[in-house]
Amino acid sequence: MKPRILVARPIFPEILDLLVSHFDVLSNQPDSVWTPESWKQGLSQCHGALTTGADPINADVLAACPNLRICANMAVGFNNFDVPAMTAARVLATNTPDVLTETTADFGFALLMATARRMAESEHFLRAGRWTQWRYDLFAGAEVHGSTLGILGMGRIGQAIARRGAHGFGMKVIYHNRSRLPQVTEGELRATWVGKEDLFRQADHVVLVLPYSPSVHHTVGASELALMKPSATLVNIARGGIVDEAALIAALRERRISAAGLDVFEGEPQVNPGLLALDNVVLTPHIASATIATRMKMAKLAADNLIEFFSRGQAMTPLNEVSA
Ligand code: GLV
Repeated sequence: MKPRILVARPIFPEILDLLVSHFDVLSNQPDSVWTPESWKQGLSQCHGALTTGADPINADVLAACPNLRICANMAVGFNNFDVPAMTAARVLATNTPDVLTETTADFGFALLMATARRMAESEHFLRAGRWTQWRYDLFAGAEVHGSTLGILGMGRIGQAIARRGAHGFGMKVIYHNRSRLPQVTEGELRATWVGKEDLFRQADHVVLVLPYSPSVHHTVGASELALMKPSATLVNIARGGIVDEAALIAALRERRISAAGLDVFEGEPQVNPGLLALDNVVLTPHIASATIATRMKMAKLAADNLIEFFSRGQAMTPLNEVSA
């Protein structure tokens, strides 16, 4: 008998075909919205699941799913997983690292550029038919090349952004991370470690790329924003909960910082109306890894994790250790 797999959200048809060739698949191609009850009910019939970052796997869900053995997240972040609870329930957790690094870094840089150069705001102005003549200060924004880029969180994606900033745009790169990179990597990236407060004080553009866990909830709040230059911008491509959105809205409204680019939100997919009311923000719907090629690689890696686990007892990119 084939193992039964739940595919939580719509997926590329090729990947669905691949999964169907290995598993008895319960798929959600119509994209029905899961309630907490229907989610537990669907998952409780399955031995494995291909999940997205929006699908919670926690102790409550696990208690309803005694046959579950693996959840393969189609995301590098895995804050939707309670990994210790999964380990205790002997459920393997996997994610999709590496395949999205460069694409996500491209997007982080694009968001930085769009924010600094006021692209969304100026496009709205043009579409509204308000462009009547050239002006010396029309949507004059902040310089990117040659400025100071501050990166909070210096994992794979942070390093890929640092490379773009230092090598492509001649930026001075400073970063803060719990652990310092080896000197040789710092040299290659032309990046300098600084304390967290110095990062906020010195950077012209701050980019957040640290993984979310409750310990980094509201890492950027009123006091960090108060350290920033009034001309500085903030970009968040990590997770919404890293920024205290109410404090950010106040800082943007009062122009205590110049602008923000946000791909992630505290209550996503709901977006705080206070953000929607601001001109000095660029807002995108959590799409930093969204190119067709990269999303295909992520889906394939998540599917391969399921296939390898059920055929060989080992996944490609495990997050925990679970005895078979
Ligand atoms: C996207 O946010 C991811 O974690 O892959």
